Formats: sequence, structure tokens, C-alpha cells
Amino acid sequence: MEGNMLVTGTNRGIGLELVKQLAETTGEEAHIYACCREPEAATAKDLRDLSTQYPGQITIIKLDTSDEKSICAAVKAVSEQVGSGGLNLLVNNAAINIPAQPAPMSATNKQHMMDVYETNVVGPFLLAKMFLPLLQRAAESHSPDKDKGEEMSCRRSAIINISTLLSSIEKCPETFPMAQMYSYRSSKAALNMLTRCQAEDLKVHNILVAAIHPGWVQTDMGGEEAPLSTHDSVLGMLAVMSSLSQKDCGRLLDWQGNRIPW
Ligand SMILES: NC(=O)c1ccc[n+]([C@@H]2O[C@H](COP(=O)([O-])OP(=O)(O)OC[C@H]3O[C@@H](n4cnc5c(N)ncnc54)[C@H](OP(=O)(O)O)[C@@H]3O)[C@@H](O)[C@H]2O)c1
Repeated sequence: MEGNMLVTGTNRGIGLELVKQLAETTGEEAHIYACCREPEAATAKDLRDLSTQYPGQITIIKLDTSDEKSICAAVKAVSEQVGSGGLNLLVNNAAINIPAQPAPMSATNKQHMMDVYETNVVGPFLLAKMFLPLLQRAAESHSPDKDKGEEMSCRRSAIINISTLLSSIEKCPETFPMAQMYSYRSSKAALNMLTRCQAEDLKVHNILVAAIHPGWVQTDMGGEEAPLSTHDSVLGMLAVMSSLSQKDCGRLLDWQGNRIPW
């Protein structure tokens, strides 16, 4: 991976590990914009420590993905820094999952449905829309030699939406007994459609759009009994992202590169 990369929701969980492994595996040829709601808060200490470990490689950006004004301010801050290179990679990772699991229909109310949709779907939509000029700039300025002639890649210009196996309508009969999660599942199925629409829309600009399921991962959201560490999930996802090409545009893949049916 290389160039200018932006990840949302990076103060903990999968987002924090994404920033860590991106910083470890890229050098001065990459710059990571690590977004979080409250950069100064105690909850962002691990992220601040990480950015100190990689001076000049990580910039922390204040961003609440459910707040349009906050997105505007983040776009302005990043656009002042990336220059002519634009933004090569946008990873929409931030998400919420309420009410608490197993989240049956009886425990889910209108506000849960609205809040989850706002963060998990509207946020990624607005981020893609508002970062589009920078993504286009990256796609246009990328030299085909540098990219081994590939028309689309995460090195050139891409949007990766972090989805979930639970978004799969086809797999619902298998996964529903484990976790009902009406609001979360519906939002991620909508995120998949957003991915598919933007893949169609943005292919003319050579911007790759795909969705990735990180596996069931030990985080605040995934819980302690999850089988995968953030380290292994992110290692897999970054390998998948590095290998994505035009044929993967608009697909939902898991952290090992397997296709998940819609
Ligand atoms: N863990 C799993 O097993 C699993 C499985 C499938 C898919 N996923 C997906 O993987 C991604 C990361 O999940 P995770 O397990 O790392 O979750 P997590 O531990 O709950 O972390 C969620 C992150 O998103 C941030 N966030 C939430 N709402 C935000 C907002 N409005 N603005 C900015 N940041 C916001 C949180 O920041 P705050 O600290 O400020 O709340 C936190 O940094 C999500 O898209 C999730 O749906 C996870």
C-alpha cells in the first residue's frame, strides 16, 4: 500500500490495528490520516501513542462520521495536506451496533434503527461523496508504470467499506440464530448496495469500490469470544486490499479474499 490513506474510527478495535499495520508496512511513501471522534480524549490515547511512534507518517483528524459539518471540516483539513497527490484510499471502518446483542426485534426501537443507519450508511455515503474530488485527483495523477499498468487498485484510488457477513441476505438463514441485530444487519446490507452503486458510478474515474468483511474479531463490538484477533483480521484484509483489481470492483469479500453472496 502507498500514497495518502484515510481510515475512519481509528481510536480502537479494527481501525486502530489498520493504522498500526499500515504504518508498519509502509514507509515514507505513504501517509495515513487516522480519523477519530475525539482526538484529545482518553479514549484516543492508544492512537496518539501510535502516531508518536511513527512521526511524520500518521496525522490524526477529528471526525464524527454521523455529523456532516465534521465531515466537511475533515475533508478541508485533509485536502490542505495531500496536495496534488490526492487521496488514494478511503476506508469506511467506523460503525455502531445497537441495541446490545442479540438485539431481537422486541429490544430494537426507531431511534436504534435511525442512529445505526446514520452512522453505518449515511456517513460512508457522505465521506465518499465529499472526498470524491481528492480520490479523482489520485486516480488521475497515478502513473500506470507505478501501478504495473493496472486500471484499478487500492494503490491508485479506492473506497473500501467495512461490511460484515451478517449483511448477506442469502446467508441470513444460517447467521440469524446467532445474532438477530435488525438495525446492524439492515444497515450493512444498505452499505453493500452503496458499495455496488458507487462501484458502477465511479468506474469511469478508475476508482475501485469494494466491501470487506473482517471476520468475527475480538473488539468491543465483536466481544471476547470472537475467534480472530485484530492483528490476524487486519493482516488478512490488507493482503486482500493490496491484491484487489478491476474484477473485484463492486464485490463483497471476506478477510481471506473469498466472495460472500449478497
Ligand atoms: N468486530 C467484529 O467481529 C466485526 C465483524 C464484522 C464487521 N465488523 C465491522 O468492522 C468495523 C470496525 O468494528 P470494530 O469491531 O473495530 O468496532 P468497535 O471496536 O466498536 O470500534 C468502532 C469504532 O468506530 C468508531 N465510531 C463509531 N461511531 C462513530 C462516529 N459517528 N464517528 C466516528 N467514529 C465512530 C468508534 O469510535 P468511538 O470510540 O468514538 O466510539 C470506534 O473507533 C465496523 O464497520 C464493524 O461493523 C466488525
